[in-house]
Amino acid sequence: MKKKVPIDFKVSAASRGRRSKKKKRRKLSKRRGVKVKEKAKEEGVTPLVEKYWLQRYDLFSRYDEGIKMDEEGWFSVTPEEIAVRHAEMSRGGVVIDCFTGVGGNAIQFAKMSCHVVAIDIDAKKVELAYNNAKIYGVEDYIDFIVGDFFQLASSLEGNGDIAFLSPPWGGPSYKAIENFTLDRLKPKDGYSMFQVAQTITPNIIMFLPRNIDLHQVEELSWLSSPPLSVRD
Ligand SMILES: C[S@@+](CC[C@H](N)C(=O)[O-])C[C@H]1O[C@@H](n2cnc3c(N)ncnc32)[C@H](O)[C@@H]1O
Repeated sequence: MKKKVPIDFKVSAASRGRRSKKKKRRKLSKRRGVKVKEKAKEEGVTPLVEKYWLQRYDLFSRYDEGIKMDEEGWFSVTPEEIAVRHAEMSRGGVVIDCFTGVGGNAIQFAKMSCHVVAIDIDAKKVELAYNNAKIYGVEDYIDFIVGDFFQLASSLEGNGDIAFLSPPWGGPSYKAIENFTLDRLKPKDGYSMFQVAQTITPNIIMFLPRNIDLHQVEELSWLSSPPLSVRD
């Protein structure tokens, strides 16, 4: 004969089972978290960029083949999918990538059959961009220049079909700003930057944060004739 089990015992046994499953799951994910942290440490990733390292394949799909970045590069590189969309706006020709960084955009423009003039003020960034372009097999389509875009602009007049502007947004804290105004862009405000780019070509692509002041962007687009389009 089956032994009757008191109801409250059944309940507590079941919940004990659930609790131990939860405990196991927590243990497992903790162990996985520790492993991920160890792998990041092995690669020399600092705690500040760990979050970006977790998204490494979104930044560069060929990350495992030898992509290299410095700390600023981790949080300032354009994610590959977005860089592809930027590149799709071009139709070949010469693209002046005025703030190249570690090469996220330059690589995609080069893949889209553009010739790219890649400028960055930081020699280390240019070295990293060259390394990364080699991973994608496009280094021969890019001229790498260490220099200040604002100083080089006059020598580039009429030499580019597109000027691509991906200036620093002032670090990850830009996200906390409700209305990101153009004066926050570095190293100069967005209006000056845009005007300098206009001396090279009327075709300008500017990559701005989502929280940008849209009224200002509209004003900026009117500086161009015909006015530039704004895309989300
Ligand atoms: C947002 S990052 C560019 C990211 C790049 N689009 C990518 O996908 O890797 C901006 C870069 O502008 C560079 N920079 C800052 N001032 C500059 C200047 N005056 N001339 C050229 N580059 C500059 C910084 O060194 C930094 O690498």
